[in-house]
Amino acid sequence: MTWEEAAALPLAGLTAYRALLYQGQAKAGDQVLVTGIGGGVAQFAAQYAVALGAKLSVSSSRSAKLEKARSLGAEHGFNYLESNWVDQALAATGGFDVIIDGAAGDPLNNLIHVCKPGGRIVFYGATMGLPGKLEARKVYWNQLKIMGSTMGSDQDFLDMIAFVMKHAIRPEIDRVFGFGDAVQAFDRMKAGDQMGKIVLTP
Ligand SMILES: NC(=O)c1ccc[n+]([C@@H]2O[C@H](COP(=O)([O-])OP(=O)(O)OC[C@H]3O[C@@H](n4cnc5c(N)ncnc54)[C@H](OP(=O)(O)O)[C@@H]3O)[C@@H](O)[C@H]2O)c1
Repeated sequence: MTWEEAAALPLAGLTAYRALLYQGQAKAGDQVLVTGIGGGVAQFAAQYAVALGAKLSVSSSRSAKLEKARSLGAEHGFNYLESNWVDQALAATGGFDVIIDGAAGDPLNNLIHVCKPGGRIVFYGATMGLPGKLEARKVYWNQLKIMGSTMGSDQDFLDMIAFVMKHAIRPEIDRVFGFGDAVQAFDRMKAGDQMGKIVLTP
């Protein structure tokens, strides 16, 4: 890895690892949905899912990011701003065994709708805030598990490094900025233009 790639890996790579493998228990053949593929954690969750042999779908607000995700191995991409994306996802995949999400908010209820009976929804962030309601009936009727995940243990970190090396996973770098341009870097993140990690260098 370049220094920039190595700088992009630790926190996002660890968070994605624990969410997908420890909490989500994802395995080969599973239908996996990673939401908001432009995000730093999401790109690792997506690459790990492909490395496991799972069938990867992603969501995003931008078609260019969905297109780019295909080069990471995504079979399907859905624009979560389209009102019928839930129907599109169910028609294309039949539903998901594991869903990895960093947005939460009311869209969490869409994830409950696209989760297979017995499936697992793991969220590691709440970019969209707290949900105002929860489709509780769908959760219990379909025996869903909704779990939280944060970073990981020292053992998770060692396991993540071994997994990344074994599968030759390369962090997706969106753009590298010098410290002097840090404000532009934050503006890019605020506008949601990034696909992968933004790195600052001295
Ligand atoms: N628990 C932990 O250990 C941990 C670790 C790292 C980060 N986090 C949290 O996780 C969240 C994401 O952080 P990050 O650094 O990975 O991402 P990020 O680079 O800040 O990007 C956030 C992404 O959220 C996506 N998004 C926005 N609205 C969405 C929605 N309604 N549904 C699905 N996706 C949506 C966007 O994806 P598109 O651009 O593709 O539309 C955007 O790229 C933040 O809340 C952060 O605080 C938690």
